[in-house]
Order: sequence, then C-alpha cells, then structure tokens
Amino acid sequence: MKTIFITGASSGLGKATAKLFHNQGWNVIATMRNPEKEEELSGLKNVTLLPLDVTNYDQIQSTVQKAIELGDIDVVFNNAGYGLIGPLESFNDDQITKQLNTNLLGVIRVTNAFIPYFRERKSGLFISTTSIGGLISFPLGSVYHATKWGLEGWSESMAYELNPFGVNIKTVSPGGIKTEFLHGSLDSGSKPEYEAMTNALFANVDTMFEMASTAEQIAEVVFEAATDGKTKLRYVAGEDAKALYQQRLEQGDEVFRTAFGKQFLGA
Ligand SMILES: NC(=O)c1ccc[n+]([C@@H]2O[C@H](COP(=O)([O-])OP(=O)(O)OC[C@H]3O[C@@H](n4cnc5c(N)ncnc54)[C@H](OP(=O)(O)O)[C@@H]3O)[C@@H](O)[C@H]2O)c1
Repeated sequence: MKTIFITGASSGLGKATAKLFHNQGWNVIATMRNPEKEEELSGLKNVTLLPLDVTNYDQIQSTVQKAIELGDIDVVFNNAGYGLIGPLESFNDDQITKQLNTNLLGVIRVTNAFIPYFRERKSGLFISTTSIGGLISFPLGSVYHATKWGLEGWSESMAYELNPFGVNIKTVSPGGIKTEFLHGSLDSGSKPEYEAMTNALFANVDTMFEMASTAEQIAEVVFEAATDGKTKLRYVAGEDAKALYQQRLEQGDEVFRTAFGKQFLGA
C-alpha cells in the first residue's frame, strides 16, 4: 500500500486529494494546522491526521519525523497556501512575510525535511500545488505570484538536483478551483488610489471563475501526477488554465501580457 503525505488537508484541494487517494486504496497522512477540528477525515481508515503549520520550522521537523516513523512514504504533496491580493503598497511587512513563509518557504522546508529520506530510499515524489498564477500574472497579485512563480522555477531546478537519486518532483498548476480560496483564504489589502483597479479585477475574476474546476477535478490531476510514472515536471490543471497557458505560449510573453492587462483593466 502506498502512502501520500499532504499539507493543507483541512479543506479544498488538500482535502479532496486526501479523499481521492483514500478511495484509491492509499494510506494518507493528512496534515493540517488544527487536526482536532477535523471531522470528516478523522473517521477514515488508513488516514492519519498530524498537526502541521508550514510556517513553523520546528513543527515541520517533528511532524516529518513522525510521519517517516509511521511507515514508508511515497509521495509528498505540498499544497498548503493562500492568496494575498491587493496593491503592494497596501500590505504591511507581516502580510508579505506570511505569504512568502506559507506558500514558498513552507514548500521548500517541508521538501528539504524529506529529501534525505527519499535520497537514501532512492525513490520518492514531491508534488507542489502552484497555480496558473505561477505561469502568468494577474494585476494586484504580485506577492502571491512571487511565491507561485518561485515554486515553478524552484521545482524545475530541483528536478535536476533530485532526479539522479531516483527522486522526482512535479508541479500541479491549477486555474480557478471552487474552494474557500477566493472568499475564505484571501488576505487582501486596499487603498483608495487603487479602488477602480481592484473593482475591475474582482469583476473579471468572478467571470473567469465561472470556468473554474472543482477541487475533485484537480485532485484527479494530482493522482495522475502521482501514478503515471513519468518524469514530467508540470501538470497544468483545469480547462481555464490550459487555455490561458496555451495562449501565452502561442503569443509570447509581451503580446500576451499586453492583451491580458487590457482585458482586466481596459486600455
Ligand atoms: N482556489 C483556487 O482558485 C486556486 C487556484 C490555483 C492554486 N490554488 C492553490 O491551491 C492550494 C490549495 O488551496 P485551496 O484552493 O484548496 O484553498 P483552501 O480551501 O482555502 O485550502 C487552503 C489550505 O491551506 C491551508 N493552510 C493555509 N495556511 C497554512 C499554514 N500556514 N500551514 C498549514 N496549512 C495552511 C489551509 O488550512 P486552514 O484550514 O488551517 O486554514 C487549507 O487547508 C493553495 O496552494 C492555493 O494557492 C488555488
């Protein structure tokens, strides 16, 4: 029986992935900040809940150690994250640091904690949830994009570093997912000077979200990445994300970004 270790499994994509792998006969180590509050996953056989706040360095070390002691781990799914949306000058330094700590450093630290184990075992797979926002940028998402573009570039480099040891690393880059993300998990800033821009962005994002995938659909892509045996790096997930990324590749960076900006903010 194979085992997947998941971060941010309390809701959305993390929880849908935990349920899918469980249904497919995997062992699941579902980590989350508050496992004592979890009701759905805690009743499932072969699902173990462990506490993990990915911004807590010491807890990463102890939870990874505990997970390894429970039995073999085959896949680590770095999924915890949230969106910080708004003009850069509206954020305080804590907001910026927390976004980088959660979405980028959290993934790097959790991965690093597992590397010696996977390297010695000569097998293992890391999958990280990035975003279509790691391949193209929207207005007013600069710090979020810094984390997700960061993860895409970091993963590409890590693949060179880990593949020779039989260890693999992949990204799943979803478009919109109908989860708590937009409403619950967003940290947003505002400033009157940017109000028109913010309103234009949210009006457009709401329209774009009509094409969004369900968490279950994106979890299927995570499952594909975990089981297809390929050394492929990037899995763009969801029809919306695939269409946008295709457009960027066909048009090139400059043409794409000029047209994309106009779509959001006018000429
Ligand atoms: N929804 C979208 O449109 C979309 C699109 C592209 C990419 N993504 C990415 O998909 C991933 C999952 O998001 P989602 O859409 O499933 O949203 P979600 O339902 O809000 O889930 C986010 C998860 O991350 C967890 N989390 C946040 N900060 C954490 C921390 N410091 N330590 C541990 N866990 C933490 C949350 O835990 P708590 O329950 O404790 O808050 C929650 O389980 C994120 O990386 C997000 O950037 C989402």
